[in-house]
Amino acid sequence: MRKDLGVLPAVFPMPVLMIASYDENGVVDVMNAAWGSICGMDKIALCISGHKTNENIEKTKAFTVSLADAAHVKEADFFGIASGKSMPDKFARSGMTATKSPRVNAPIVEEFPVTMECELLEIVQTEHFHSVIGKIVNVTANEKVLDADGKVDVSKLDAIIFDQFRNSYYATGERVAGAWDAGKPLMK
Ligand SMILES: Cc1cc2nc3c(=O)[nH]c(=O)nc-3n(C[C@H](O)[C@H](O)[C@H](O)COP(=O)(O)O)c2cc1C
Repeated sequence: MRKDLGVLPAVFPMPVLMIASYDENGVVDVMNAAWGSICGMDKIALCISGHKTNENIEKTKAFTVSLADAAHVKEADFFGIASGKSMPDKFARSGMTATKSPRVNAPIVEEFPVTMECELLEIVQTEHFHSVIGKIVNVTANEKVLDADGKVDVSKLDAIIFDQFRNSYYATGERVAGAWDAGKPLMK
């Protein structure tokens, strides 16, 4: 028996993306964004609007996007509750560390394990869609989350995912199967 749940953004899992930017005075801000997705091999689209982060990105034309990990769930959630608009020391309060990206005019939060350094490509605003599109110019990762081939090993990442049904964060689980592989038996 199935039940209708009404209109919901019923996608799971959602990422827990940490968008970091500078304001015009070089003050760091970080916001939490779940509504973001890769939209090309070197592009990311973020459905964010009306935030201090938006103002910053419009001015600096750059931002970084990090994957939040379980060790920093408190800080990650705080970045989604507080706004740099009303809390000028938002990032300082988190106790985290930021360094300037050598490639783009945006901060890298050192404690987050994987970070995409992005240049603003365009802001797309239509009646039903507002998205900040970034070009990924580099990805920087903590060595601790890399495998022997230098690739990100998600079993070491301890990334968290967001459940928008019940507003919760979950740990990522174990590997189930290979992609472009598990379906191969059905190709015969
Ligand atoms: C789990 C979570 C996910 C969020 N995802 C988004 C999102 O995808 N887009 C958005 O505009 N705001 C999102 N927010 C809200 C912003 O993070 C929040 O408004 C934040 O205060 C903005 O910070 P800023 O004003 O310092 O930029 C999310 C908040 C949480 C807690």
